Amino acid sequence: MDWKSAFEEIEKIKQEAQVEINQAGDLSQQETWRVKYLGRKGRLAVLTSLLANSPAEIRPKLGQAVNELKNYLQALLKKVSKEKKVSRKGKNLSLPGKPAISGLLHPLTLTTRRMVEIFVRMGFGVYTGPDIETDFNNFEALNMPVDHPARDMWDTFYLNQEGTLLLRTHTSPVQIRVMKELTPPFRVVAVGRCFRRDLLDASHSPVFHQLEGLMVGKRISFAHLKGILIYFCQELFGKQTRVNFTPSYFPFTEPSAEVSISCVICRGQGCPTCSRTGWLEILGCGMVHPQVFRKVGYNPDEFSGLAFGIGIERTAMLLHGITDIRFFLQNDLRFLRLFT
Ligand code: PHE
Repeated sequence: MDWKSAFEEIEKIKQEAQVEINQAGDLSQQETWRVKYLGRKGRLAVLTSLLANSPAEIRPKLGQAVNELKNYLQALLKKVSKEKKVSRKGKNLSLPGKPAISGLLHPLTLTTRRMVEIFVRMGFGVYTGPDIETDFNNFEALNMPVDHPARDMWDTFYLNQEGTLLLRTHTSPVQIRVMKELTPPFRVVAVGRCFRRDLLDASHSPVFHQLEGLMVGKRISFAHLKGILIYFCQELFGKQTRVNFTPSYFPFTEPSAEVSISCVICRGQGCPTCSRTGWLEILGCGMVHPQVFRKVGYNPDEFSGLAFGIGIERTAMLLHGITDIRFFLQNDLRFLRLFT
């Protein structure tokens, strides 16, 4: 466009701007309009730069016209935005509302969901069991008869004089419940609260959570156990995570193992979190003991199985660099709001 047609252009802009602003129903359309006409590269700006290059004789006249156009456009915008703000009943509907305060999920819930989701992807079902258990499910059926020294591994809260009812010390009794309810082959995980007579300190809590896994079928082997747990650890802590199996002992699995991962803080170099070993122990596991199968009426010659138990607090602490287990129990909003 040259400066000769500028006056025509100004009239055209006025008309079009008027029509279009009336069609701009909401704030975002008004904004689009503003950018088109008054924006840095808008139609007014084009005229302004033309003005600078126009011959001196017409510059004052054109300048005045451009100025008028500017005032005209600004007035249009002001008028509609005022009209749109004042609604039928004279309330200003464009004012910001009161912020809604929404609830949050607890970091342990979030961690649990992340863990369970990985097993669900591998075809595991999800089970639960009660906090209060029988001595039979918590110990006896897990190959720990009364007076078995291995019971000392778990300091137990008993609920009656006879010692038949207790707060479960791990989620392994859910293994017994699941085996009684289902027919192999199956694979399940169970999440829940556990209780031990520990004193509360930075790394111990008398109430904590575990995720239990159990898979039973015709030819389940230690290779399945390794494959499942290596996949789980690398999904949760990252593909570069190294996973180490060390021989261990549990009365209800044979062989048993403890699983360590390369330290998530120092990646195996050695740091205070891993006590300078480069490794973090994160779970116990093994092949289901034949004696456990017998207790639930399975034939150990027909079936084999794998089982594992993972502490959820410890996992959440490693994932988020939390140094004190007590944070999970204190309901301090400053802590809880850190997790989404
Ligand atoms: N129940 C064991 C514990 O609490 C962990 C575990 C589960 C070990 C399943 C082997 C198999 O320490």
